[in-house]
Amino acid sequence: MKVIISPSVLSADFGNLQRDIEMLNSSEAEWLHIDVMDGAFVPNISFGFPVLSAVRKHTSKVCDVHLMIVEPQRYIQAFRDAGADIITVHYEAVTHLDSVIHQIKNSGAKAGVALNPATPVSVLKDVIQLIDVVLIMSVNPGFGGQKFIPYAVNKVKECKNMILQSNSSAVIEVDGGVGLNNAAELITAGADVLVAGNAVFSTANPVETIHQLVHSVK
Ligand code: DX5
Ligand code: ZN
Repeated sequence: MKVIISPSVLSADFGNLQRDIEMLNSSEAEWLHIDVMDGAFVPNISFGFPVLSAVRKHTSKVCDVHLMIVEPQRYIQAFRDAGADIITVHYEAVTHLDSVIHQIKNSGAKAGVALNPATPVSVLKDVIQLIDVVLIMSVNPGFGGQKFIPYAVNKVKECKNMILQSNSSAVIEVDGGVGLNNAAELITAGADVLVAGNAVFSTANPVETIHQLVHSVK
């Protein structure tokens, strides 16, 4: 079974960002996950446009931008211009989700919607056909290296069923605490894309770890 790995740049060494991006370029990862945090939607601040532009300059992989910010509608075009291929906003951060999804698509990017662990998959029922990516959070967003929340597996299954029933072409991405210990279970449940930060960057050979994640289910 095929899975896309999206290593989280949040876990990279920012003093050697170009080196780490080049390392990821040489791996089987198809996407790079870029976590933008504003200190308001989540209790942490990461980085914004200059870092995304720098990453973009050194990679042709898909730049998968996860916005953990309030009022994301104010910045869609700016993230697209900085190099985002996919722009994912949080359901919980948006009042007019239908309109933000269209805004993202009109910018030329693919549209993703992220759900916090406590937000049920069913809230996406009416927009699932408009979405390119559903991002299921398996930790409370804000930090890398947290423990996987097991009930996320059932949410992946529910989401897969919703997608199949609605003829949507959305892919399911899982983010937080994902690694070699749970990748197979998530893929079997219906995950198409796995984000991995700590599980990749804390190992001695991240390229090999990505290889193992890609091939976790034969
Ligand atoms: C958490 C971020 C994640 C994080 C994942 O708020 O959205 O993308 O970087 O890191 P790990 O894989 O270490 O949990
Ligand atoms: Zn993320």
